[in-house]
Amino acid sequence: MSTLTPKSAAIIGLGYVGLPLAVLARQQGWQVIGLDIDQNKIDLINQGQVPFADQALQTGLNNYPISAATDPSQVASVEVIIIAVPTPVNTSNEPDLTPITSALQNILPHLSAGQTLIIESTINPGVMDEIIVPLLQTRSDLPLDAAVPDSDLPALFLAHCPERVNPGDDKWTVKNIPRVLGGYSRIGTQKARDFYADVIDAPIKIMGSATEAEAVKILENTFRDINIAYINEMARSFDALGIDIINVIAGAATKPFAFMPHYPGNGVGGHCISVDPYYMIARGKQVGFDHQFLKLARQINEDMPQYTVDILKQDLKKHHLDISGSSIAVLGLAYKKDVSDTRNSPALKTVELLQSAKANVVIFDPFLPDLSTVKSLNQALDQADAIILACDHTDLVNQLTPQTLKKAHLKIIIDAKNALDHKAIKKTDLTYSGIGRS
Ligand SMILES: NC(=O)c1ccc[n+]([C@@H]2O[C@H](COP(=O)([O-])OP(=O)(O)OC[C@H]3O[C@@H](n4cnc5c(N)ncnc54)[C@H](O)[C@@H]3O)[C@@H](O)[C@H]2O)c1
Repeated sequence: MSTLTPKSAAIIGLGYVGLPLAVLARQQGWQVIGLDIDQNKIDLINQGQVPFADQALQTGLNNYPISAATDPSQVASVEVIIIAVPTPVNTSNEPDLTPITSALQNILPHLSAGQTLIIESTINPGVMDEIIVPLLQTRSDLPLDAAVPDSDLPALFLAHCPERVNPGDDKWTVKNIPRVLGGYSRIGTQKARDFYADVIDAPIKIMGSATEAEAVKILENTFRDINIAYINEMARSFDALGIDIINVIAGAATKPFAFMPHYPGNGVGGHCISVDPYYMIARGKQVGFDHQFLKLARQINEDMPQYTVDILKQDLKKHHLDISGSSIAVLGLAYKKDVSDTRNSPALKTVELLQSAKANVVIFDPFLPDLSTVKSLNQALDQADAIILACDHTDLVNQLTPQTLKKAHLKIIIDAKNALDHKAIKKTDLTYSGIGRS
């Protein structure tokens, strides 16, 4: 067994999940090495810059710098190794575990008994047992606790602790979000638990197995996708009925039990809610189970950008305009407010739909100057016949008042997040539509 540096950790994958954990572990007195395959990200982190918009994390990194590298051999001397690489789907919406398997292959020669390897990436039930354990077992000289759970001999200890962090959320952070954790042996589970108990300030629930921990994360995220799909369906139905769904949700939310508000919008994006259900759908298929509910939810949510564009077309018609040739400003490209992450963003799909309908599309996102086609909100508004508020960044919402919307050509406001002061806008000459509040 090689000598391991006490209280040292390697975090593999320095993105929205890995970097906050790396900074927090540093803050809690751990020696941290960050590993990634993206040289550009590594350079930025070594220069003290967070590679994406996150002011709180930037402050953390300023105070607790991280040393980042590509060299997988750097895991050799650390006590704890965390894997936080992406788990995307391919173009057929099938799970793509390549980042996880390649990260593991890269570090495999450098692992040793006594280390604790924790998978934080989101995976469906069965990936730990059926993919990760067999992959680690290809190193026949490395004892693995998953292979001999009750042995007290030193082994590589394996656990799954899915991350729940919610980028852009100042209240719930990597530090105070409770964790679930599933290991393979008493000692291994305890070691993984000890790491989190030392680093975070929240309860850690030990699950009966790694599979149960995998299933918890999938349950949480499919719950959210289904509930958003449900409220999107209700919004479309209420649009047909002329009922304002936001008022109805506010009414329903007065019930102190058995109702949890979810809100309609132009779709679901990001690397989690719009992806994880496909992991469960694929897993169900492997064992002969058809996840009809999850598939329907995905379909409804995937269809919301089209629905948003359909509302726009109706409103353009009211002004005797066709989408082809009209100037449409898409405001906000990120998948959710106040972040710069565009992965699977419904706003991107909206842009594609508008472009294929031959609209002149102007894009402005204050968090994404490189993807914006104009430099300011004013410039976007100046050129537009219609706007679609596709992401409700606080700054955009605050600026989109009846006064700023008073522009020569601007006729239509599609508030795809129901975030604007619709009553004030409806008092002007502008045609306003939300999602479920037309
Ligand atoms: N983003 C979220 O809000 C969130 C929340 C909870 C859980 N998760 C889960 O956490 C995992 C990571 O998500 P993320 O949003 O941080 O992704 P991300 O893309 O922001 O970061 C992942 C990092 O891993 C790096 N990487 C890719 N392949 C690698 C490899 N083989 N070796 C080393 N590094 C590699 C990438 O370059 C990237 O920097 C995913 O499984 C995701 O589902 C994400």
